[in-house]
Amino acid sequence: MHNRYAVILAAGQGTRMKSKLYKVLHSVCGKPMVQHVVDQITSLHIQEMVTIIGHGAEKVQAQLGDSSLYALQDKQLGTAHAVMQAGSILDGKEGVTIVVCGDTPLIKAETMESLFKHHEELKAKATILTAKIDDPTGYGRIIRDENGLVEKIVEHKDATDGERKINEINTGTYCFDNQALFHALRNVSNDNVQGEYYLPDVIEILKKQGEVVTAFQTIDFAETLGVNDRVALAEAERIMRNRTNEAHMRNGVTIIDPLNTYIETDVEIGQDTVIYPGTMIKGKTIIGSDCQIGPNTEIDSCKIGNDSVVRQSAAYDSSIGAYVNIGPFAHIRPDSTINDEVKIGNFVEIKKAVFGKGSKASHLSYIGDAEVGSDVNIGCGSITVNYDGKNKYLTKIEDGVFIGCNSNLVAPVSIGKGAYVAAGSTITKNVPSEALSIARAQQVNKENYVQKLNLKK
Ligand code: UD1
Ligand code: CA
Repeated sequence: MHNRYAVILAAGQGTRMKSKLYKVLHSVCGKPMVQHVVDQITSLHIQEMVTIIGHGAEKVQAQLGDSSLYALQDKQLGTAHAVMQAGSILDGKEGVTIVVCGDTPLIKAETMESLFKHHEELKAKATILTAKIDDPTGYGRIIRDENGLVEKIVEHKDATDGERKINEINTGTYCFDNQALFHALRNVSNDNVQGEYYLPDVIEILKKQGEVVTAFQTIDFAETLGVNDRVALAEAERIMRNRTNEAHMRNGVTIIDPLNTYIETDVEIGQDTVIYPGTMIKGKTIIGSDCQIGPNTEIDSCKIGNDSVVRQSAAYDSSIGAYVNIGPFAHIRPDSTINDEVKIGNFVEIKKAVFGKGSKASHLSYIGDAEVGSDVNIGCGSITVNYDGKNKYLTKIEDGVFIGCNSNLVAPVSIGKGAYVAAGSTITKNVPSEALSIARAQQVNKENYVQKLNLKK
């Protein structure tokens, strides 16, 4: 096998997106387009990957980090000019270079691998990944000679009416002999309708030099969709969503209504988990097996153990154990740790809190900045008073504590192991272990008071 290199084109502004955000940073299923491309390329055996940055360079670089090398394209003079910028890193090296556009988020590693193989087997100097599509508008067209051999690529804007009828298009992904590529790039001119240096012109240049130029046609056009505007962005999102949902279903996850279920690409879900409609599962969420998630639930970057249920709720950046029951209508805010067999019921909000095994907050509570032990029962309407308008304070509730309904625990405060807090208490001082704490006004019954009132009338 030859050395392999990759160049990702990501310097364009993306005028047609009509956006403040640079095109390749627009997300498809929660991940920026260029990150999708880089993630797929990373799984191939590539010696050096160079991303061409220009518009929003720092932002693209911040997104991709050190997974790629970078070359700056100061002015966006066209795709050939963009690839030339990688010359400082790649020029002269022996091997095969794959060039991929940062705006083709659906391209798969296995297709790129097939493209490499095809290119290597045919000992070609250039191989274009092409596709036949119903509506080729906007794409470069593949021009073949009478023997069916690739001659050149003509951009839509430069094409004659006859050429525009051709429905085999340039997907924007190619393999090149690295040395031949950088050599040919020097001969590309900008004598065309857009006044740009076109990378596709390298094909004609190599062909005229008598080199082997081939095409590898993919059957899955969807994979090569180039996103230039928001309509295509939504289309890419739909295709990626389908693909992800299908993979989970084939893996043993039941998705009741795939058209109404939104799972981002890095999510993992165990077997026999059922996802109900209206559910969004985002970020690096990992869900165990035999869970029930949804309906109408949003989970972002959480870890959830086996056999747990999350109904009609929202959970963010938290860890949730096994046999946990959440919802309906619960809100788990970031940095919470909910251990096994916990119940978080309706209208309960949890923030930056630990819940020990088997503890319950079944109705109408706010528990924030708290350490709750195991087998604790937090009665309906009880809250932690964690904020004095300036600072946040910790509430500690030890194992086996019973908090009566409608209690306020004014932090910083701790409730010792096995203690009871009477319903309606406002607790401002620590409660010792095994104690009963009552902190509410004494009840006064005024006998026959109503009769007295009536006499006054
Ligand atoms: C390009 C191809 C076209 C192909 C299509 C597939 C050219 C001239 N045309 O057209 O044949 O059918 O992709 O989707 O290559 N970029 C830079 N620097 C530049 C110009 C572009 O980095 O100076 C980057 C863009 O950020 C983008 C990619 O290159 O990620 C493609 O550029 P774009 O303007 O979208 O090309 P298309 O018109 O789609
Ligand atoms: Ca494009």
